[in-house]
Amino acid sequence: MADKALQAVILAGGQGTRLRPLTLARAKPVVPLLNRPFLAYQLALLRAHGVSDIVLACSYRVEDLRAALGDAEHLGVRLRYAIENEPLGTGGGVRNAADLVSGTLFVLNGDILTDPDLTEMRRLHETRGSRTTIYLQPVPDPRQYGLVETEADGRLKAFREKPAAGEEITTNTINAGIYLIDADLLGRIPRERASSIEREFFPALIADGVPCFGWCPTAYWRDIGNPAAYRAAQIDLLQGRAAMPLAPPGQRRDGSWVDGGGIVEPGARIVAPSVVGAGVVLGPRCKVGPGTVIGEGARIGPDARVEGAILWERVEVGAGAVLQDCVIGADVKIGEGARVGPEVVLASGTIVPERATLTG
Ligand code: GDD
Ligand code: MG
Repeated sequence: MADKALQAVILAGGQGTRLRPLTLARAKPVVPLLNRPFLAYQLALLRAHGVSDIVLACSYRVEDLRAALGDAEHLGVRLRYAIENEPLGTGGGVRNAADLVSGTLFVLNGDILTDPDLTEMRRLHETRGSRTTIYLQPVPDPRQYGLVETEADGRLKAFREKPAAGEEITTNTINAGIYLIDADLLGRIPRERASSIEREFFPALIADGVPCFGWCPTAYWRDIGNPAAYRAAQIDLLQGRAAMPLAPPGQRRDGSWVDGGGIVEPGARIVAPSVVGAGVVLGPRCKVGPGTVIGEGARIGPDARVEGAILWERVEVGAGAVLQDCVIGADVKIGEGARVGPEVVLASGTIVPERATLTG
């Protein structure tokens, strides 16, 4: 195998509309996952497989991305930004970023949480003489994804992005959103106009008989595109279902991660697996967890219960309030004795009155 270090482009220019209202406050690629910006996990995965020169293809809320990741030196990689003045789609985004790199390229959708063995993917790409290799996953309902059909030897036969209602569904194998693409194919993507890698580039490669392969490993995979999936992804991480090469911030303590500078008042309990951020105040007798993430600087009042819930930074939970299986944006204030139930998602800055009951 050639040992030239590969580079990567991460597509991070989508608007994240399905993850509203969370993405009103922060761009989807950097919403917190166990108190780290989402893309930190992708950067760690790439780094673990020897890819440390990475370009973010972005157009929307670039300042959010920079604030959360900077040049990512602290994550052991070099991160650069390729900014589109107008969104160029998944095709144009790759083309625009590719000017900063050379050679065979990893391309990642910036909204999937996954732990595949990218070294194995690269090996397959090289040994099969593949010019473009697509990471595949089986899913129960493929209609919202790119459907991929392969020959018995793995060669790509068809790529169909989000088939229209009524169209026949011929496979449950989907494009999982990571590609290896030979550099000399990137010139096929038009420069400076919007295009879709899924609807244009892949189908054209297949039509032209360019050798392209699917790679379908056993791996954890989830698209974090909506609030339920966003919460579920974190429960999966807490329960160890994904083998991510990056732990949450803080020290491991009784099966949870607890960051520094906080206060645990008498009788307060952290039930594993949970993550408690820096500077969090846990009031007397409150119970946090299991399956809970508390963002930096949050304050949990006396006797409150927070279970299966994801709290962003500086949330204040009043005395005796109960939060169950919900997602709470930054700076939300929850009044004393309020109840916030399963599937509720609160936008950053929301104020919940005392004793209110919110259900999903
Ligand atoms: N730079 C840039 N510019 N990035 C973009 C743009 C753009 O104009 N539009 C979308 N992206 C990024 C998104 O931020 C996301 O990370 C990625 O491209 C894919 O876009 P989505 O909008 O999330 O697509 P999807 O989830 O409907 O479908 C895609 O992902 C599925 C797997 O999760 C497709 O690649 C499907 O084929 C695939 O199955
Ligand atoms: Mg997506």
